[in-house]
Amino acid sequence: MRSEGYGNWPERSISVSPRWGWGPSASGKMIIAIDGPSGAGKGTVAKAVAASLGFRHVDSGAMYRAVGWKALREGVALEDEDAVARLAERSTIVVTSDLVTIDAADVTRDIRTPAIDRAAASVARLPAVRAVLVRQQRQLGQGGRIVMEGRDIGTVVFPNADVKIYLDAAPEERARRRASDPAHSGGPAAVSDVATLLTERDRIDRTRAASPLYAAPDAVVVDTTGRSIDEVVARVLGIVNSQVSRLNSQD
Ligand code: DC
Repeated sequence: MRSEGYGNWPERSISVSPRWGWGPSASGKMIIAIDGPSGAGKGTVAKAVAASLGFRHVDSGAMYRAVGWKALREGVALEDEDAVARLAERSTIVVTSDLVTIDAADVTRDIRTPAIDRAAASVARLPAVRAVLVRQQRQLGQGGRIVMEGRDIGTVVFPNADVKIYLDAAPEERARRRASDPAHSGGPAAVSDVATLLTERDRIDRTRAASPLYAAPDAVVVDTTGRSIDEVVARVLGIVNSQVSRLNSQD
């Protein structure tokens, strides 16, 4: 794992030269994995990085949320591993930068509630459910040119991703961001309440037996504490740029 310091971040977004044809590999099937805990800025940063590169952006957490939403709706017990896995298997989940649907139902807003935070964390603990969603995530990555964010993208889903970023931030800052996130419905929440819930969810994500959250050994850790979105996006694009140069120089 390589750690980033705070200083020397470029002020402006770095444009990535198209002369490489977007292929560190001859196939040009570039995959960028962005992992990290809640509130580290993954969603905003992954979306901006994908837009800047003309890549597809996939929020894998939205897939766990959609499965949790549907399980609650159908009255499937969240701890019934086989039943939830079967439900995931027969569902069609579509995740774009702006829209999340499950079996054509638009759940973009409905999956961002405290109840679905808990339901998603529950179903994400189940290995059989993860197996179904990881298979779908790998299919999405087949054509490359994708930025996928989550908890296990660089460790399990795409262990050979061309670029792996692990975004992190101080717990207080993550709680502040999450409390003021308009995508999370329920109105403004007390930062201390959000901090308590976030800490508990982090603990579950980091200690669960199936694909726990950790930084891949070859991920670049970027601490977003006190950094603007523009700064972090520029930093990530800088990492992508240098990784592409490095891979090209090995050709
Ligand atoms: O990123 P998020 O908060 O929307 O994720 C929802 C839940 O799904 C959260 O408990 C972490 C889990 N998750 C996971 O286990 N693996 C992923 N690749 C993405 C999310």
